[in-house]
Amino acid sequence: MSVQEPCVALAPMEGVLEVTARNLLTRQGGWDFCVTEFVRVSHERLPPKVFHRICPELKSDSVTPSGVPVHLQLLGSDPESMAVNAGVAVKAGAQVVDLNFGCPAKIVNRHGGGARLLTEPNRVQAVAAAVVEALKPQGIPVTAKMRLGYEDAELALDNALALEEAGVTQLVVHARTKTQGYKPPAHWEKIAALAERLAIPVLANGEIWTLEDYQRCVAASGVRDVMLGRTALADPWLASHIKAASQGEEVKATCFEDLPALMLEWVAGAGQIYPEKVRNMRIKQWLVMLMPRWGEPARQLFEACKRLQTEAEISDLLQARLDDAAVPRAHAL
Ligand SMILES: Cc1cc2nc3c(=O)[nH]c(=O)nc-3n(C[C@H](O)[C@H](O)[C@H](O)COP(=O)(O)O)c2cc1C
Repeated sequence: MSVQEPCVALAPMEGVLEVTARNLLTRQGGWDFCVTEFVRVSHERLPPKVFHRICPELKSDSVTPSGVPVHLQLLGSDPESMAVNAGVAVKAGAQVVDLNFGCPAKIVNRHGGGARLLTEPNRVQAVAAAVVEALKPQGIPVTAKMRLGYEDAELALDNALALEEAGVTQLVVHARTKTQGYKPPAHWEKIAALAERLAIPVLANGEIWTLEDYQRCVAASGVRDVMLGRTALADPWLASHIKAASQGEEVKATCFEDLPALMLEWVAGAGQIYPEKVRNMRIKQWLVMLMPRWGEPARQLFEACKRLQTEAEISDLLQARLDDAAVPRAHAL
């Protein structure tokens, strides 16, 4: 008898996991859903084009070309405005709306949004309840993503319960506080107390770079469902490996040499959307995100790339890396 596969989601990452990257990564298989970069909501009613820019998939049933559902994420602290804009998002095509309660950006937190809201569970509840109520007539599910807290994790359970009480149908927990930023480790063990108390599905997030990390996260949190962010860029096949391992199948580990081909594919796909300068910057950013997982080879590739100015030079570098990797394999045949 086969065991039920865990759910593996692709995280929202502003300026990184945009439409081309979502398309590319979900094509590798194993992903159950993705969440868009956040749409920032302040006091005005945003036009539909803002939602379509962040999430072009809204025009194609809110799925990526490989059929993986895309949830639209909103970030804001004013319940009324969030409710109004969630309505616009749904009219624009959103089929699931996700709420961001974890953004560490200074500008967002200064205005009481993002992770700052986690200091006031009643405000978290008010924002979520307003959006849930607004979308009830259309039957649109509202999900949420939170950190453990702002400066400490004291209110983690209160916030999680507030979200459930508000009617949120699923919760992703990034296992760090805002103060902990992105510094390892992620405190997976702190998710256990939340998952035990909540009836809604809870997904664990943070620092799951390898299958072994996944297994340690499950052991610490008691949660099998996960969301992967930087770690998805470092190993786009990790989602399918997690699924395969859950069925007792043998997994062929990813190697660093598998990545340049994917990066070149991203460059080709992003060519129609972003100017060259942006594409170059994003590839360099991607290389930085490979370092925690791949160490020295990733650092060397980044060092070789960081001062390159043109896409042709960057593509040549990636292609050379690909060709180098192909030589020993060809010899082995
Ligand atoms: C560059 C960057 C952009 C991010 N943008 C968002 C975002 O728009 N919304 C959100 O909820 N989280 C955002 N996050 C947080 C990630 O979704 C995720 O929670 C975090 O990176 C931890 O997971 P990881 O260790 O797998 O990367 C962002 C993280 C990074 C590094």
